[in-house]
Amino acid sequence: MSLVAIGACYLDTILTTPHYPGEDEKLRASNICRRRGGNCPNTLEVLQQLVAHGSSPAELSLNLVAVLPARSSAASQQIQAAFEPHVRMDHCIYRDELTEPASSYIFKSQASGSRTIVNYNELPEMNVDEFVKIAEALGSNDSWFHFEGRIPEVTLSCIHYLREQFPAVKISVEVEKPERPGLQQLAKEADVVFYSKVWAQGNGYHSAEQCIREQSSLTGKASLLCCTWGEYGAVALETATKELIHQPAYTAADFKIVDTIGAGDSFNAGMLYALLCRKDEWDLSQKLEFANRVAGLKVSQEGFAGLGRALD
Ligand code: FRU
Repeated sequence: MSLVAIGACYLDTILTTPHYPGEDEKLRASNICRRRGGNCPNTLEVLQQLVAHGSSPAELSLNLVAVLPARSSAASQQIQAAFEPHVRMDHCIYRDELTEPASSYIFKSQASGSRTIVNYNELPEMNVDEFVKIAEALGSNDSWFHFEGRIPEVTLSCIHYLREQFPAVKISVEVEKPERPGLQQLAKEADVVFYSKVWAQGNGYHSAEQCIREQSSLTGKASLLCCTWGEYGAVALETATKELIHQPAYTAADFKIVDTIGAGDSFNAGMLYALLCRKDEWDLSQKLEFANRVAGLKVSQEGFAGLGRALD
Protein backbone atom coordinates (compact mmCIF):
# COMPACT_ATOMS: atom_id res chain seq x y z
CA MET A 1 0.00 0.00 0.00
CA SER A 2 1.20 3.53 -0.60
CA LEU A 3 0.51 6.85 1.04
CA VAL A 4 0.81 9.87 -1.22
CA ALA A 5 0.91 13.23 0.57
CA ILE A 6 0.26 16.32 -1.54
CA GLY A 7 1.20 19.71 -0.11
CA ALA A 8 3.74 22.50 0.05
CA CYS A 9 7.32 22.01 1.16
CA TYR A 10 8.95 24.90 3.03
CA LEU A 11 12.37 25.68 4.36
CA ASP A 12 11.77 26.97 7.87
CA THR A 13 14.06 29.45 9.60
CA ILE A 14 13.09 29.48 13.26
CA LEU A 15 14.24 32.18 15.66
CA THR A 16 13.66 31.53 19.35
CA THR A 17 12.90 34.87 21.01
CA PRO A 18 12.22 35.70 24.67
CA HIS A 19 8.87 37.19 23.67
CA TYR A 20 7.00 38.03 20.49
CA PRO A 21 8.65 41.18 19.08
CA GLY A 22 6.78 44.45 19.02
CA GLU A 23 6.64 46.40 15.78
CA ASP A 24 9.86 48.34 15.13
CA GLU A 25 11.54 46.65 18.13
CA LYS A 26 15.12 45.34 18.05
CA LEU A 27 15.29 41.94 19.68
CA ARG A 28 18.04 39.38 20.10
CA ALA A 29 17.10 35.76 19.41
CA SER A 30 18.59 33.05 21.60
CA ASN A 31 18.62 30.40 18.90
CA ILE A 32 18.36 29.96 15.14
CA CYS A 33 17.38 26.72 13.48
CA ARG A 34 16.84 25.91 9.82
CA ARG A 35 14.91 22.85 8.81
CA ARG A 36 12.70 21.48 6.11
CA GLY A 37 9.03 22.16 6.86
CA GLY A 38 5.57 22.24 5.37
CA ASN A 39 2.58 20.31 6.68
CA CYS A 40 2.81 17.25 4.44
CA PRO A 41 6.61 16.98 4.61
CA ASN A 42 6.39 17.23 8.42
CA THR A 43 3.70 14.55 8.48
CA LEU A 44 5.79 12.28 6.26
CA GLU A 45 8.89 12.89 8.35
CA VAL A 46 7.08 11.59 11.43
CA LEU A 47 5.20 8.84 9.61
CA GLN A 48 8.45 7.53 8.19
CA GLN A 49 9.81 7.08 11.71
CA LEU A 50 6.66 5.39 12.95
CA VAL A 51 6.67 2.95 10.03
CA ALA A 52 10.35 2.16 10.59
CA HIS A 53 9.93 1.77 14.34
CA GLY A 54 6.70 -0.14 14.49
CA SER A 55 6.48 -3.81 13.78
CA SER A 56 3.55 -2.91 11.56
CA PRO A 57 2.11 -5.73 9.51
CA ALA A 58 1.44 -3.63 6.41
CA GLU A 59 4.19 -2.58 3.99
CA LEU A 60 3.70 1.13 3.43
CA SER A 61 5.49 3.18 0.79
CA LEU A 62 5.57 6.93 1.43
CA ASN A 63 5.49 9.50 -1.35
CA LEU A 64 5.65 13.27 -1.36
CA VAL A 65 4.06 15.37 -4.09
CA ALA A 66 5.25 18.96 -3.67
CA VAL A 67 6.28 21.80 -5.93
CA LEU A 68 10.00 22.51 -5.58
CA PRO A 69 12.49 24.85 -7.26
CA ALA A 70 14.91 23.52 -9.92
CA ARG A 71 16.11 19.99 -9.28
CA SER A 72 19.71 21.27 -9.25
CA SER A 73 18.99 24.07 -6.74
CA ALA A 74 20.59 23.86 -3.31
CA ALA A 75 17.15 23.79 -1.67
CA SER A 76 15.83 20.85 -3.72
CA GLN A 77 19.06 18.91 -3.19
CA GLN A 78 18.86 19.52 0.55
CA ILE A 79 15.21 18.48 0.77
CA GLN A 80 15.87 15.35 -1.27
CA ALA A 81 18.88 14.37 0.81
CA ALA A 82 16.81 14.66 3.98
CA PHE A 83 13.97 12.48 2.67
CA GLU A 84 15.16 9.80 0.31
CA PRO A 85 15.13 6.80 0.27
CA HIS A 86 12.46 6.48 2.99
CA VAL A 87 10.14 9.05 1.49
CA ARG A 88 10.01 8.89 -2.28
CA MET A 89 10.18 12.18 -4.15
CA ASP A 90 10.05 10.93 -7.77
CA HIS A 91 6.65 12.60 -8.22
CA CYS A 92 7.64 16.03 -6.99
CA ILE A 93 7.16 18.87 -9.48
CA TYR A 94 10.31 20.89 -10.15
CA ARG A 95 10.07 24.48 -11.40
CA ASP A 96 13.33 24.59 -13.34
CA GLU A 97 13.34 28.34 -13.89
CA LEU A 98 13.33 29.08 -10.13
CA THR A 99 15.84 28.46 -7.37
CA GLU A 100 14.18 30.01 -4.31
CA PRO A 101 12.27 27.48 -2.19
CA ALA A 102 9.05 28.29 -0.41
CA SER A 103 10.34 29.74 2.85
CA SER A 104 8.92 30.38 6.29
CA TYR A 105 10.37 32.75 8.87
CA ILE A 106 9.09 31.80 12.28
CA PHE A 107 9.25 33.60 15.63
CA LYS A 108 9.02 31.13 18.46
CA SER A 109 8.20 33.06 21.61
CA GLN A 110 9.47 31.57 24.88
CA ALA A 111 7.08 33.71 26.92
CA SER A 112 3.89 32.39 25.33
CA GLY A 113 4.96 29.27 23.43
CA SER A 114 3.38 30.75 20.29
CA ARG A 115 4.91 30.37 16.83
CA THR A 116 4.25 33.19 14.40
CA ILE A 117 4.86 32.20 10.80
CA VAL A 118 5.53 34.54 7.89
CA ASN A 119 6.01 32.76 4.63
CA TYR A 120 7.10 33.47 1.08
CA ASN A 121 6.36 31.27 -1.90
CA GLU A 122 6.98 32.26 -5.51
CA LEU A 123 6.66 28.74 -6.94
CA PRO A 124 3.67 28.35 -9.29
CA GLU A 125 1.21 25.92 -7.69
CA MET A 126 0.56 22.41 -8.98
CA ASN A 127 -2.21 22.31 -11.60
CA VAL A 128 -4.76 19.57 -12.27
CA ASP A 129 -2.98 18.25 -15.41
CA GLU A 130 0.22 17.81 -13.43
CA PHE A 131 -1.64 15.92 -10.74
CA VAL A 132 -3.41 13.69 -13.28
CA LYS A 133 -0.03 12.67 -14.78
CA ILE A 134 1.27 11.83 -11.31
CA ALA A 135 -1.84 9.85 -10.36
CA GLU A 136 -1.63 7.92 -13.65
CA ALA A 137 2.01 7.10 -12.99
CA LEU A 138 1.21 5.97 -9.44
CA GLY A 139 -1.86 4.34 -10.93
CA SER A 140 -2.98 2.21 -8.03
CA ASN A 141 -6.25 1.60 -6.31
CA ASP A 142 -4.32 0.50 -3.27
CA SER A 143 -3.29 4.03 -2.33
CA TRP A 144 -4.18 6.59 0.29
CA PHE A 145 -4.02 10.24 -0.85
CA HIS A 146 -3.56 12.83 1.89
CA PHE A 147 -4.08 16.44 0.80
CA GLU A 148 -3.01 19.52 2.69
CA GLY A 149 -6.09 21.70 2.24
CA ARG A 150 -4.57 24.42 0.07
CA ILE A 151 -5.38 25.54 -3.50
CA PRO A 152 -8.95 24.23 -2.89
CA GLU A 153 -10.28 24.44 -6.47
CA VAL A 154 -7.34 22.43 -7.83
CA THR A 155 -7.53 19.96 -4.95
CA LEU A 156 -11.26 19.50 -5.52
CA SER A 157 -10.68 18.63 -9.19
CA CYS A 158 -7.89 16.24 -8.17
CA ILE A 159 -10.23 14.50 -5.73
CA HIS A 160 -12.98 14.22 -8.38
CA TYR A 161 -10.46 12.74 -10.78
CA LEU A 162 -9.32 10.16 -8.21
CA ARG A 163 -12.89 9.18 -7.32
CA GLU A 164 -13.65 8.56 -10.98
CA GLN A 165 -10.48 6.79 -12.03
CA PHE A 166 -9.59 4.94 -8.86
CA PRO A 167 -12.79 4.43 -6.86
CA ALA A 168 -11.06 2.33 -4.23
CA VAL A 169 -8.53 4.95 -3.11
CA LYS A 170 -8.91 6.55 0.30
CA ILE A 171 -8.66 10.32 0.60
CA SER A 172 -7.88 12.42 3.64
CA VAL A 173 -7.85 16.20 3.80
CA GLU A 174 -6.36 18.61 6.28
CA VAL A 175 -8.62 21.60 6.96
CA GLU A 176 -6.34 24.05 8.74
CA LYS A 177 -6.42 27.67 7.64
CA PRO A 178 -9.60 29.58 8.51
CA GLU A 179 -8.93 32.37 6.02
CA ARG A 180 -8.82 29.94 3.09
CA PRO A 181 -12.20 29.66 1.35
CA GLY A 182 -13.18 26.34 -0.22
CA LEU A 183 -11.97 23.96 2.48
CA GLN A 184 -15.53 23.05 3.42
CA GLN A 185 -16.07 21.63 -0.08
CA LEU A 186 -12.92 19.54 0.29
CA ALA A 187 -14.14 18.16 3.63
CA LYS A 188 -17.34 17.13 1.87
CA GLU A 189 -15.44 14.89 -0.54
CA ALA A 190 -12.94 13.25 1.80
CA ASP A 191 -13.03 9.92 3.66
CA VAL A 192 -11.08 11.33 6.60
CA VAL A 193 -10.94 15.00 7.63
CA PHE A 194 -8.46 16.62 10.02
CA TYR A 195 -9.79 19.94 11.37
CA SER A 196 -7.54 22.36 13.24
CA LYS A 197 -8.61 24.38 16.27
CA VAL A 198 -8.01 27.67 14.44
CA TRP A 199 -10.19 26.57 11.54
CA ALA A 200 -12.94 25.46 13.90
CA GLN A 201 -12.81 28.71 15.86
CA GLY A 202 -12.60 30.77 12.68
CA ASN A 203 -15.80 29.07 11.56
CA GLY A 204 -17.67 29.83 14.76
CA TYR A 205 -17.27 26.57 16.67
CA HIS A 206 -16.57 26.84 20.40
CA SER A 207 -15.31 23.31 20.99
CA ALA A 208 -13.90 20.34 19.11
CA GLU A 209 -17.11 18.40 19.89
CA GLN A 210 -19.31 21.10 18.40
CA CYS A 211 -17.12 21.32 15.30
CA ILE A 212 -17.21 17.57 14.72
CA ARG A 213 -20.94 17.17 15.47
CA GLU A 214 -21.97 19.97 13.17
CA GLN A 215 -19.47 19.04 10.48
CA SER A 216 -20.74 15.47 10.42
CA SER A 217 -23.97 16.65 8.81
CA LEU A 218 -22.00 18.57 6.15
CA THR A 219 -19.54 15.85 5.14
CA GLY A 220 -21.34 13.30 3.03
CA LYS A 221 -18.57 10.79 2.35
CA ALA A 222 -16.40 10.85 5.46
CA SER A 223 -15.98 7.82 7.66
CA LEU A 224 -13.83 9.64 10.23
CA LEU A 225 -13.60 13.26 11.40
CA CYS A 226 -10.90 14.49 13.80
CA CYS A 227 -10.44 17.88 15.45
CA THR A 228 -7.42 18.85 17.56
CA TRP A 229 -7.80 21.43 20.34
CA GLY A 230 -4.40 22.24 21.88
CA GLU A 231 -4.09 21.27 25.54
CA TYR A 232 -7.69 19.98 25.60
CA GLY A 233 -6.57 17.13 23.32
CA ALA A 234 -8.60 15.93 20.37
CA VAL A 235 -12.00 14.62 19.39
CA ALA A 236 -12.85 12.06 16.73
CA LEU A 237 -16.08 10.75 15.28
CA GLU A 238 -16.64 7.54 13.38
CA THR A 239 -19.58 8.46 11.19
CA ALA A 240 -20.87 4.88 10.73
CA THR A 241 -21.34 4.31 14.46
CA LYS A 242 -21.76 7.99 15.41
CA GLU A 243 -19.25 7.24 18.14
CA LEU A 244 -17.72 10.52 19.36
CA ILE A 245 -14.54 10.16 21.36
CA HIS A 246 -12.45 12.66 23.29
CA GLN A 247 -8.87 11.94 24.35
CA PRO A 248 -6.95 14.42 26.53
CA ALA A 249 -3.66 15.82 25.32
CA TYR A 250 -0.56 13.81 26.12
CA THR A 251 1.39 14.86 29.18
CA ALA A 252 4.24 13.31 31.13
CA ALA A 253 5.58 14.14 34.60
CA ASP A 254 8.23 16.51 33.24
CA PHE A 255 6.15 17.78 30.32
CA LYS A 256 7.15 21.21 29.03
CA ILE A 257 6.15 23.00 25.85
CA VAL A 258 9.32 23.38 23.79
CA ASP A 259 8.34 23.57 20.12
CA THR A 260 4.79 23.60 18.76
CA ILE A 261 5.78 23.98 15.09
CA GLY A 262 4.33 20.97 13.32
CA ALA A 263 2.29 19.64 16.28
CA GLY A 264 -0.82 19.29 14.11
CA ASP A 265 1.24 17.69 11.34
CA SER A 266 2.54 15.16 13.88
CA PHE A 267 -1.01 14.41 15.10
CA ASN A 268 -1.97 13.70 11.49
CA ALA A 269 1.03 11.39 11.14
CA GLY A 270 0.01 9.48 14.26
CA MET A 271 -3.57 9.08 13.06
CA LEU A 272 -2.56 8.12 9.52
CA TYR A 273 -0.15 5.54 10.92
CA ALA A 274 -2.92 4.13 13.11
CA LEU A 275 -5.41 4.02 10.23
CA LEU A 276 -3.02 2.52 7.70
CA CYS A 277 -0.90 0.21 9.81
CA ARG A 278 -3.04 -0.68 12.84
CA LYS A 279 -6.47 -0.81 11.18
CA ASP A 280 -8.62 -3.18 13.28
CA GLU A 281 -5.86 -3.92 15.75
CA TRP A 282 -6.51 -0.59 17.53
CA ASP A 283 -9.96 0.85 18.17
CA LEU A 284 -10.72 4.53 17.59
CA SER A 285 -9.94 5.47 21.14
CA GLN A 286 -6.47 3.89 20.92
CA LYS A 287 -5.85 5.52 17.55
CA LEU A 288 -6.76 8.95 18.92
CA GLU A 289 -4.71 8.47 22.06
CA PHE A 290 -1.75 7.48 19.93
CA ALA A 291 -2.07 10.52 17.62
CA ASN A 292 -2.20 12.76 20.72
CA ARG A 293 0.86 11.03 22.08
CA VAL A 294 2.85 11.65 18.90
CA ALA A 295 1.78 15.32 18.89
CA GLY A 296 2.53 15.69 22.62
CA LEU A 297 6.00 14.18 22.30
CA LYS A 298 6.68 16.52 19.40
CA VAL A 299 5.60 19.59 21.38
CA SER A 300 7.91 18.63 24.25
CA GLN A 301 11.02 18.56 22.04
CA GLU A 302 12.82 20.59 19.39
CA GLY A 303 12.15 19.33 15.84
CA PHE A 304 10.96 15.89 14.77
CA ALA A 305 13.80 13.48 15.58
CA GLY A 306 13.11 10.29 17.51
CA LEU A 307 9.31 10.41 17.44
CA GLY A 308 9.15 6.72 16.58
CA ARG A 309 9.45 6.24 20.35
CA ALA A 310 5.73 7.05 20.56
CA LEU A 311 5.29 3.35 19.78
CA ASP A 312 7.34 2.16 22.76
C1 FRU B 1 4.09 23.87 10.43
C2 FRU B 1 4.44 24.30 9.03
C3 FRU B 1 5.88 24.79 8.89
C4 FRU B 1 5.76 25.62 7.63
C5 FRU B 1 4.38 26.23 7.75
C6 FRU B 1 3.68 26.34 6.44
O1 FRU B 1 2.83 23.27 10.48
O2 FRU B 1 4.21 23.26 8.12
O3 FRU B 1 6.81 23.76 8.82
O4 FRU B 1 6.72 26.56 7.50
O5 FRU B 1 3.66 25.41 8.64
O6 FRU B 1 2.41 26.89 6.57
